[in-house]
Amino acid sequence: MSFMQINDLKVHYPVRGGFFNTVIDQVLAVDGITMEFERGKAYGLVGESGCGKSTTGKALIGLEKITSGSIIYEGENVTNKRRNRKSSFNRDVQMIFQDAHSSLNPRKRVRDIIAEPIRNFLNLTPKEEERKISELLEIVGMPEDAKLKYPHEFSGGQKQRLGIARAIATNPKLIIADEPVSALDLSVQAQVLNFMKDIQNEFGLSYLFISHDLGVVKHMCDHISIMYKGRFVETGTKADIYTNPQHIYTKRLLSAIPEVSPVGRENRKRERIRVEQNYQAEHKNYFDENERVFDLLQVSNTHYVASTSQVKGVL
Ligand SMILES: Nc1ncnc2c1ncn2[C@@H]1O[C@H](COP(=O)(O)OP(=O)(O)O)[C@@H](O)[C@H]1O
Ligand SMILES: [Mg+2]
Repeated sequence: MSFMQINDLKVHYPVRGGFFNTVIDQVLAVDGITMEFERGKAYGLVGESGCGKSTTGKALIGLEKITSGSIIYEGENVTNKRRNRKSSFNRDVQMIFQDAHSSLNPRKRVRDIIAEPIRNFLNLTPKEEERKISELLEIVGMPEDAKLKYPHEFSGGQKQRLGIARAIATNPKLIIADEPVSALDLSVQAQVLNFMKDIQNEFGLSYLFISHDLGVVKHMCDHISIMYKGRFVETGTKADIYTNPQHIYTKRLLSAIPEVSPVGRENRKRERIRVEQNYQAEHKNYFDENERVFDLLQVSNTHYVASTSQVKGVL
């Protein structure tokens, strides 16, 4: 059973202009997405820059106003209650940002940064709080003396670990991680990702893992949604998406994953050309005349694809 459901979520930004500064258009940043989260699972949200991933994450935790749709958390409609400081939703759903540096207050010591959610949500004595902070630092592999330092004294990977320590301080159920490793060196990326997996297993966390990188998502996620212009083109398990992709856009993204090995390079190039020709030829079955993605149709128990019903017939 899922503990959280998102139904037909939309976030539209008004575009103002003209002499009277009236609303002349809307940016449909998120335009009708539906998903649900189960305990202990990792969900991937993938798509090109600008497709609406960050807006989705921010809308979920209440940093962005929702135009329509609903968020149900443990049976309660929390759509318009997410900024209520003491609510269990705010304790249980935490976010990690791509830019660990700007999400950590540079004027505060690590101890006070990590203590913030603890003071907001947990009723601890100063002694218990101190112990909790030491524990959290140990979990994220940072030394005890980090407590008294400032964020700028740490490397990018270490800062991301501090962000994670803060995110897990209140024992959350869901962590929304928006491109958490994109700003890090490749070698550090792997470390942070593996560490995020470890704590997921240890604490039974769920992740909404946002990334433009299909390779990273494959490593981290059980279930994946591919986003294009504010809508899902395809959603399914890792196997559905990587071994049985159906949408022309998913196929195109997959064929564009860079391979380090020179072996089979010619074949991959031919395959990319074939995928691209198919994309052009099949376009009208997957996008309407305004380039809007169709509604999702069910392909199997776990797998959904946005296409016209004619295409579904031949799947
Ligand atoms: N505050 C805003 N006002 C107007 N448009 C916005 C705002 N924030 C984001 N957008 C637009 O919404 C779309 C989705 O942005 P975003 O969610 O940041 O995409 P992603 O994280 O996938 O790169 C983009 O077209 C972006 O320009
Ligand atoms: Mg983003």
